[in-house]
Amino acid sequence: MGAEFLKKQAELTDKQFLKIADFIQNNVGIKMPEQKKLMVQSRLQSRLKALGMESFDDYIAYAFSTGSHSDEEIALMIDVITTNLTSFFREKQHFDSMMTTILPEFAKNGFSKIDIWSAACSSGQEPYTLSIVMSEYFRTHPGAFSDFSILATDISSRMLEKAENAVYTMDDVEDLPFDMKKRYFLKSKDEAAQQVRVKPEIRKKVRFERLNFMDSSYPIETDKHIIFCRNALIYFDKPTQEAVIRKLIEHLIPGGYLFLGHSETIFGMNLPLRNVGPTMFRKEIER
Ligand SMILES: C[S@@+](CC[C@H](N)C(=O)[O-])C[C@H]1O[C@@H](n2cnc3c(N)ncnc32)[C@H](O)[C@@H]1O
Repeated sequence: MGAEFLKKQAELTDKQFLKIADFIQNNVGIKMPEQKKLMVQSRLQSRLKALGMESFDDYIAYAFSTGSHSDEEIALMIDVITTNLTSFFREKQHFDSMMTTILPEFAKNGFSKIDIWSAACSSGQEPYTLSIVMSEYFRTHPGAFSDFSILATDISSRMLEKAENAVYTMDDVEDLPFDMKKRYFLKSKDEAAQQVRVKPEIRKKVRFERLNFMDSSYPIETDKHIIFCRNALIYFDKPTQEAVIRKLIEHLIPGGYLFLGHSETIFGMNLPLRNVGPTMFRKEIER
């Protein structure tokens, strides 16, 4: 057994945990109770290893110092602490509602171009699902709309890079219908890679940008018809969730739709939203 194997991993003291937890809570919004200490310790051990550091004191000094290496390290720290789990057609009911109710209604009301925002898009499966849903609607309802666009944002630069690349494993698309895979994905020429890439016509409708929900306002140019903000707010405390939703829906048209994750709620919040389906909300139309 090599000496390297026997080397004890660095442990995070309560004081060191508090320093990191305060920073994450204030700058990313994620709640960091004491119970998360072991998770943070184990996830950050990979950063210490990558940097060849033996103690969390060295790591904290490095990450919280001034200079460009610190900005980079903070981004990596946020990356390892946040949860990026996502998938194509996750919580499928939301996409079914778009197809059967929302898009026909928008078409009936004479909207021409549909603008959608996938906020907290992780590695891209959600905005590409939206692009596929819109393309399917265009294919099956020719002339219903003239165009659509999807803005996809996340705090994690690493996730945004992966999303923009649009390369996924065969397993990631395993549950999609064969026709859909054929129509919207390209199989890697290298059979052994077992990878697919989202087709250019689906990719080109999605624009990726970095956005932190903790920013005081969001620089969004065009008001959206539909906003997806799913499975990110769950990690925030209630007042932060309400503040984020308020800032998001400033960019939603009256009568536009907001989708939250299946375990997220606006219960007890004072927001101009009406519950119109499972974690599906409609912005009130001012009269
Ligand atoms: C679990 S994923 C959700 C992905 C997708 N919306 C879904 O439901 O499948 C949560 C995402 O929220 C992002 N996130 C966490 N804190 C954020 C913040 N303060 N601002 C923007 N994005 C954040 C993470 O980087 C992560 O990609």
